Amino acid sequence: MSVFTEKHILLGVTGSIAGYKAADLASKLAQSGSQVDVILTGAGEKFVTPLTFQSVTGRRAYIDSDLWGNEAHVLHVSFGKSADLLVIAPCTAHTLAKLAHGLADNLLTVTALAAECPLVIAPAMDGGMFYHPTTQENVAKLKAGGAIIVGPGEGHLASGLTGKGRMIEPAEIMGHIRIILGRNGKLAGKKVVVTAGGTQESIDPVRVISNHSSGKQGYALAQAALDSGAEVCLITAPTALPPPVGARVINVNSVQNMLDAVMGETADVLIMAAAGADFRPTHIVKDKIKKRDGIPQIELEAAPDILKTVAGSNSEKKHFKVVVGFAAENRDLLENAFEKLTSKKLDLIAANDISAKDAGFAVDNNRVTLLFASGTTETLPLLSKMEVAEKIIEHTSRLLE
Ligand code: PMT
Repeated sequence: MSVFTEKHILLGVTGSIAGYKAADLASKLAQSGSQVDVILTGAGEKFVTPLTFQSVTGRRAYIDSDLWGNEAHVLHVSFGKSADLLVIAPCTAHTLAKLAHGLADNLLTVTALAAECPLVIAPAMDGGMFYHPTTQENVAKLKAGGAIIVGPGEGHLASGLTGKGRMIEPAEIMGHIRIILGRNGKLAGKKVVVTAGGTQESIDPVRVISNHSSGKQGYALAQAALDSGAEVCLITAPTALPPPVGARVINVNSVQNMLDAVMGETADVLIMAAAGADFRPTHIVKDKIKKRDGIPQIELEAAPDILKTVAGSNSEKKHFKVVVGFAAENRDLLENAFEKLTSKKLDLIAANDISAKDAGFAVDNNRVTLLFASGTTETLPLLSKMEVAEKIIEHTSRLLE
């Protein structure tokens, strides 16, 4: 079950060109499993039609004239009572001002007044309008009243100017929504450290020894921990992925950097999904090795083992209460994973079969067997990395209990 499952989300769309991005947001929310009801203001309808939203949510989209229809007297109240979240994206300076002052002259603003759920506002306007003292006062007033203002972002504006005022991207708004929906989850009040990606061990200023880890599994774990209400620190080797909204990110390169970052944290949970180097060059060559000098002989040494180092300083569980590792294996999966579970003193290890093409490194799915220190095991089918992450986080919260 994801953080969006069975959630009722109201999406308010006001009169901004960023309305076209709201269709993407509505689509993302609906695909995530939420029930999405869209309310367009009159100006919002001028930019994007209700049909667009109906097409992506599979539900009727509401407009101002619905305020005067048959259900009019109850619509805003029933929306206000049943919604888990009201998101207004894009929100113009005008609607922002109305919300700040409790004005309720259309279906969206009357619903906002009736709503008992959290309110997320993604402003979209020209930079000068956003920085106008009146808008700033309205933003401060709404924040003081508990509204969550996300953005605006910087970049090209519809006016042709460049600056702050753009509605932030739907994917980023989704990240903020996840945090709000998950904030009372099973890991609320807990801190989780997740490592991700493949470390890079320098040979010279240009070349590195690395591996095929894309960071997808680690980033999914960080997201699943955020969805459960945890405070998350993501220690990541270089990846092409955007970090999950709300995670504190520490960027590292080498396994030594990763070790230092892990040892610098104290948390309830450590999850080591990163593919750390086991070997590294004994020396980093100062200048670029030239081809004309022939094929270099690169001497390797053992790289520090992060989990073993953690185990050495965590006998009383003061550093991390629960430690989870992964074992990436292409043969003797369970034997090798069990050896790592015990030698690295883990509470749980995800034995990761990397021999199959449809799971493991860089793809979107994973196939793991969970081995617990208690001796039990659980074999999971082929799942998306997010589903694997949700299972691991679920078990982790149980182990913390
Ligand atoms: O990043 P993706 O493309 O999504 O791929 C996901 C994954 C396959 C990388 C991930 O699911 C995974 O299996 N991560 C562990 C990879 C690994 O290094 O496995 P290992 O069996 O070599 O190491 C065992 C454990 O020790 C791991 O938890 C690892 O993080 C840790 N380790 C490894 C090396 C090292 N120097 N120090 C460590 O602590």
